[in-house]
Amino acid sequence: MNSPFSLAGKNILVTGASSGIGRALAIECSLQGAAVTISGRNSDRLAETLELLFKGPDHQCFIADLDVDEEVYALADSLSRLDGLILNAGLIKSMPAKFTKREHIDQIFNVNFYSTALLVQRLLKGRKLNTGASICLISSVASQYVSVGNTIYSASKGAVNSYTKALALELSSKQIRVNAILPGFVNTNLLSDSHVTAEELAVHEGKYPIGRFGTPQDVAYLGVYLLSDASSWMTGSLLTLDGGFSLR
Ligand SMILES: NC(=O)c1ccc[n+]([C@@H]2O[C@H](COP(=O)([O-])OP(=O)(O)OC[C@H]3O[C@@H](n4cnc5c(N)ncnc54)[C@H](OP(=O)(O)O)[C@@H]3O)[C@@H](O)[C@H]2O)c1
Repeated sequence: MNSPFSLAGKNILVTGASSGIGRALAIECSLQGAAVTISGRNSDRLAETLELLFKGPDHQCFIADLDVDEEVYALADSLSRLDGLILNAGLIKSMPAKFTKREHIDQIFNVNFYSTALLVQRLLKGRKLNTGASICLISSVASQYVSVGNTIYSASKGAVNSYTKALALELSSKQIRVNAILPGFVNTNLLSDSHVTAEELAVHEGKYPIGRFGTPQDVAYLGVYLLSDASSWMTGSLLTLDGGFSLR
């Protein structure tokens, strides 16, 4: 039976697939029948993800540091035509605004925003996005619900949000859809990189009406929906996924 949520026959790229949310997205896409290209920097963890993919269509692996423009272009050039794109690679470096240096801003924006814009540009120029393709960007509720010490991270995700909407409008005539997921806290390595203590995390988790932080799987299920034909009327949407955190 054909399901509108199936990804069978689709070629999908997932960036930041070596851990956390990206790994879960890659696995779920493979379970729904897609051929997945996974990308990241850490070859060992990327190989682990590849092992975890559902064996069916040919999956591929591409190591690229998205902090480096040439590697972004090399990734785009290595790809065949795509039906789906999950732009998930990202990092956080928390620091007070008065200690922010140019190199911090560049590093966060390079990975969280510039690499996305450059990768999409290169894929469009190379005509590598099929009609009906879906682009899913992983933003953050931090773009709208801010916290002390995360000015640059929040700004980079704010850029992702505006880019999502503008790109959705621009690509609508090609029937290419563009949406973003804005997760609240999800249990991944990123949380440990944000320098929040275990005690602070426990207090913060209490602010989630559903009673827990998210799991990578929670994000993956929404990602699959956005990549599938079930969401074919959805474009330019910023989808909050946060266990009710932003209701308060
Ligand atoms: N966890 C949360 O609470 C949360 C909440 C909202 C939004 N998000 C967003 O979700 C996305 C995934 O984060 P996560 O929580 O799954 O964190 P994670 O486990 O740390 O994963 C981050 C991924 O990004 C990749 N990456 C980082 N820098 C890179 C670079 N220079 N070049 C290529 N790849 C790079 C990492 O690859 P390597 O390790 O191989 O370098 C890794 O696969 C990010 O965009 C993050 O901002 C996370």
